[in-house]
Amino acid sequence: MSLGTHLKSSIGEKTLMAVTGVFLLLFVIGHMLGNLQAFVGPEYLNAYAAKLQSLGPLLWAIRLFLLGTMLAHIWAAARVVRRSVTARPVKYAMQKDIATNFAAKTMLISGCLILVFVVYHVLHFTSGNIDPIGAFADTHIAGEKIDIYGMVITSFQHWPTTIIYSLAMILLCMHISHGASSLVQTLGLRGCPEKCRDRIGPVLAVFLLVGNLSVPLSIYFGFIS
Ligand code: HEM
Repeated sequence: MSLGTHLKSSIGEKTLMAVTGVFLLLFVIGHMLGNLQAFVGPEYLNAYAAKLQSLGPLLWAIRLFLLGTMLAHIWAAARVVRRSVTARPVKYAMQKDIATNFAAKTMLISGCLILVFVVYHVLHFTSGNIDPIGAFADTHIAGEKIDIYGMVITSFQHWPTTIIYSLAMILLCMHISHGASSLVQTLGLRGCPEKCRDRIGPVLAVFLLVGNLSVPLSIYFGFIS
């Protein structure tokens, strides 16, 4: 079977969704650890951001890889959903969800909303097109970002921005809570029994929720300034 045919099979689609999910998860964990440097001090967060910028073409290669990974994840998810809809065109008269929960049932909607958040987030912090309170005025010189720390602090002192980010982090937590357990099942990771598989998603999701929320909330409530 060719790779193209395999990827369009039910197992191929689920494997692609799981493998791309692993890369996206690694990015989210790495990104959160980078952002937590806001607690250490401005020079650390700014030095980390400057180091990323200095990667030049490699940074663009990483960005393209991430974009491709996201598109492949969405493509595979759309095919899995379409397959499950066409496989059961008529809904059961009485639908009983035994091994499923709210996070599992809303994967499609949480995934779409996370995509909307990522677009908003890149327009906000990376390109600076969204700047509702002029937060970037003193942090950019001739279009160059010189003070990521200042940009982040000023942004999260604005309550609507903090609320948007907090809601997005809750959605991400829900998505990962089911997605991470699901990918462990799809990839059939050895040494991970059913109980461990069911717990790995919620544990990772709470770890990411606490880490990601800690930055905007600490800034908003004045613990970092
Ligand atoms: C409260 C949590 C978050 C904070 C404080 C935060 C902060 C930042 C900052 C400051 C940048 C700009 C870096 C720069 O231009 O040098 C950035 C970029 C980015 N963030 Fe986040 N982020 C958060 C959550 C997330 C999440 C959950 C995702 C993905 C689901 C994400 C995806 C991205 C992406 C794709 C970029 C663009 C990277 C690039 O190409 O330069 N972020 N983030």
